[in-house]
Amino acid sequence: QISPSHTDTSSDSQWPNIVILTGAGISAESGLKTFRDNDGLWEEHAVEEVATPEAFTRNPELVYRFYNQRREQLQSDDVQPNAAHIALAQLEAALPEHVLVITQNVDDLHERAGSKNVLHMHGELLSARCNHSHRRFIMKSPFDCTSRCQCCSPSQTIRPDIVWFGEMPFHMDEIERAVQEADVFISIGTSGNVYPAAGLVQIANHYGAHTVELNLVPSDGNNDFLEAHYGLASDVVPSYLTQYLKGK
Ligand code: APR
Repeated sequence: QISPSHTDTSSDSQWPNIVILTGAGISAESGLKTFRDNDGLWEEHAVEEVATPEAFTRNPELVYRFYNQRREQLQSDDVQPNAAHIALAQLEAALPEHVLVITQNVDDLHERAGSKNVLHMHGELLSARCNHSHRRFIMKSPFDCTSRCQCCSPSQTIRPDIVWFGEMPFHMDEIERAVQEADVFISIGTSGNVYPAAGLVQIANHYGAHTVELNLVPSDGNNDFLEAHYGLASDVVPSYLTQYLKGK
């Protein structure tokens, strides 16, 4: 159970603002593939065939199939939040208003673990977007080429609500402001390959946050962190957060 060593967390000043960046590694033990590990998604699929706006224009069926497969897997019973997701949700419950999860992941495991304050900078698998109005909505059925929006007349093509390579991530103004104001910046389960997410630690360092990497192995940006602990997220995240709160 992640909880502060003392019960009174009401007075704001004493608790820091904790911003957490997560990547595919935090969901690996829940059974979802990462991108750049062995047997990762980018081993099986060429990015330019399934994860760019040009790919969608060129061959929407292939892109729909790629995201339908990931949606189906995410919705299967054996994919559940793991101890790392749960520890983050417990941290937020213990320190309401002081914890923000910025995730590169498009799964809903943070929310299913109980995290409320979550920003998906690369979009979400379970929603869709109108290709014309860019309105977003929950997509219950699989994508297919007859899928049309309900917001335009005549109705238009819809696309997965995913930020593809070459597109701007969501919520960047809010994310940069939160990282600038963070007292603690914790990066979990990301290889530090993709910007702007990979550059957030430099902003955190510049604005004086204590920066921590929790990962299976040192990431490409590991030298930018003041502290690091390596191991499986389901081990290293709960133990780090417990120790962190005891030390406050
Ligand atoms: N526990 C902790 N870390 C893990 C675990 C685990 N069980 N398994 C893997 N990792 C680590 C790997 O060592 C690696 O550093 O998670 C990281 C996963 O890296 P990537 O596969 O590159 O995933 P990510 O960093 O999230 O990719 C960023 O790239 O393709 C785009 O949009 C996509 O959001 C994604 C972005």
